[in-house]
Amino acid sequence: MTVQWARGGPDLLVALDRDAGSLGSQVQEQLRAAIRDQRLGAGERLPSTRRLAEVLGVSRGTIVEVYAQLYAEGYVEATVGSGTRVAVLPASLRSSTPPDVPSIPTTPRISFEYGVPDLRSVPLTEWSWAISEATRSLPTQELGDEHPAGSRHLREVVTAYHRRVRSGCAIADDAVIVSGFRQGLTFALATIAQHGIRRIGLEDPGPREHELIARRAGLEAVPVPVDDNGIDVGRLRDSGARAVLLTPAHQCPTGVALAPSRRRELVAWADEVDGAILEDDYDAEFRYDRQPVGSLQGLDPARVIALGSVSKTLAPAIRLGWVLAPQRFVAGITEEKRLSTRGAPALDQEGLALLMETGRFDRHLRRMREIYRRRRDVLAAEVELAFGPGRLHGLEAGCHALLLLPDGTSERDVVARAAARGVQVNPLGHYRFGRSHADTVPPALVLGFGNVSEEQIRSGIRTLAMAVFEPTLT
Ligand SMILES: Cc1ncc(COP(=O)(O)O)c(C=O)c1O
Repeated sequence: MTVQWARGGPDLLVALDRDAGSLGSQVQEQLRAAIRDQRLGAGERLPSTRRLAEVLGVSRGTIVEVYAQLYAEGYVEATVGSGTRVAVLPASLRSSTPPDVPSIPTTPRISFEYGVPDLRSVPLTEWSWAISEATRSLPTQELGDEHPAGSRHLREVVTAYHRRVRSGCAIADDAVIVSGFRQGLTFALATIAQHGIRRIGLEDPGPREHELIARRAGLEAVPVPVDDNGIDVGRLRDSGARAVLLTPAHQCPTGVALAPSRRRELVAWADEVDGAILEDDYDAEFRYDRQPVGSLQGLDPARVIALGSVSKTLAPAIRLGWVLAPQRFVAGITEEKRLSTRGAPALDQEGLALLMETGRFDRHLRRMREIYRRRRDVLAAEVELAFGPGRLHGLEAGCHALLLLPDGTSERDVVARAAARGVQVNPLGHYRFGRSHADTVPPALVLGFGNVSEEQIRSGIRTLAMAVFEPTLT
């Protein structure tokens, strides 16, 4: 059986036939050929031996030997600190024949990527209406530099929306318009650091990049375990942090909602430590079986900084979001924004305000909720069929769920085998921080179902089942 491996980027395309003898020789031959006919150019850096071994599903020792042989033959050079690079070949070694590359799709056939909404359903007609309306109606004076907090009109509209749909209680003066959650987070972290907060708790598992972002803001990030009720507030208290970043509506990536008792405990903790709660309100709009739980901001407006974004509700490319903050932080967040970007695009802000104000945004969400609900139902049925009951978690809201794998399964091997069959999926391991806690979480995959059709879900889950249950080929 031929197992083909494609690695993103221009650097590597390797097909392994696991029934055709030494895997090391196959990798070696293909790298040599790729260097000869300049698909890998002089100076290009090869992946580390560890990384390549992982991607190809072979032992690291095999790749170390391959690189050593290519080095001995003069195809690559190794420099301490900068890894292995393709050497400049003498003309005699360069091949003049066109490359004989197996045609491997570099984009997966089906992608269960986390956090992508249905890109075919982005309401482009409504968006185009809104932008043309904004262009026609925006007063000339609004075309100059905006107030650094953002368009007054949009701040009024998003806070009204947040009060109506998320049970919040912010008003326009509490809001700063930003280019999505990520930017709002950066500004909010810098601001709480200026207020003397030194340590922040991050959900574990959770997005690992948040640790980097926190560090850049000068904060120490500590992982805090998440269980079936959401973040463990007892452990947060023990961590000595005075701030926390969390996804209470639908935890990223486990999908649990923060339990009511935990919400109360969290608010009490924030008061005890005179701290701040950063609420990533991502996914809150898509709740299927019951009413969404309200935003924490409505529960404790003096402590909670709520971060909203249209990346999931409209499209990541629109790049707009908002920060709703207690008054003592608003000036700092606004100043961070003024210094780094001066402002957000005025016409887009006005367009979004019009979309929301005229009910088009709500109508789009109602439509999407039905589409995602059907996808979720198909996903649940297919997973039950292929993996048995009780394997899928976090389905009550949002567009992703956690698929628990049988004990002892290697997430990494499953992900690689699925990729070889054209299905892309993320292992839970990408989201794990703390080693001790990670050991208690079973192997799992994070399945984003926002941007896959029902048919793709059916086919993708069957492929994943094959990737999980087939005997290891190595
Ligand atoms: C946990 C989480 N929150 C929020 C977002 C939205 O971020 P942004 O608005 O910067 O696109 C994402 C994007 O994938 C995310 O993973």
